[in-house]
Amino acid sequence: MAKKKAGKKGSSINSVGLDVAKSEALVGSLNGLLAAYQVHYQNLRGCHWNISGPTFFELHAKFEELYTKAQTFIDVLAERILTLEGRPLHTYSAYLKHSAVKEQRDLSGPKETVGCVKTDMSSLISLQRAALDLAGKAGDEATGTMLGDNITAMEKDLWMLRAYSAA
Ligand SMILES: [Fe+2]
Repeated sequence: MAKKKAGKKGSSINSVGLDVAKSEALVGSLNGLLAAYQVHYQNLRGCHWNISGPTFFELHAKFEELYTKAQTFIDVLAERILTLEGRPLHTYSAYLKHSAVKEQRDLSGPKETVGCVKTDMSSLISLQRAALDLAGKAGDEATGTMLGDNITAMEKDLWMLRAYSAA
């Protein structure tokens, strides 16, 4: 079997059998997601450290749970980019340049911190859905499953934070 696809000029497949151009488009989207996730992660650390008031113990622990979950997914995401023959962004300057999630500072009340996390998660869900669409176009089931599973988990976390805020 020839590695190059016949007919399309410049079209080829990569080591995991995906169209190079479609994989590159997907990698671009995944790197944007990675940048946003890293800013979200650091926002969660700030919320974990600075939360104060009567809800300190529950939110301090919840933010730790969420940043631990984010940290795990960030590594899975970066390694998926490498698997697709891309290079994951790994500097703070690149993250701030490419992130759709805004960095927050000095949030300490329950309303502000939970509100920040909810806003971040809504943005991350949209970014993941956009990447999922590109994964579908590339025929990349593995990236699709990775994103689909993470969207499911994040949507559930977002629902719980909405329920908490409504109290
Ligand atoms: Fe801590």
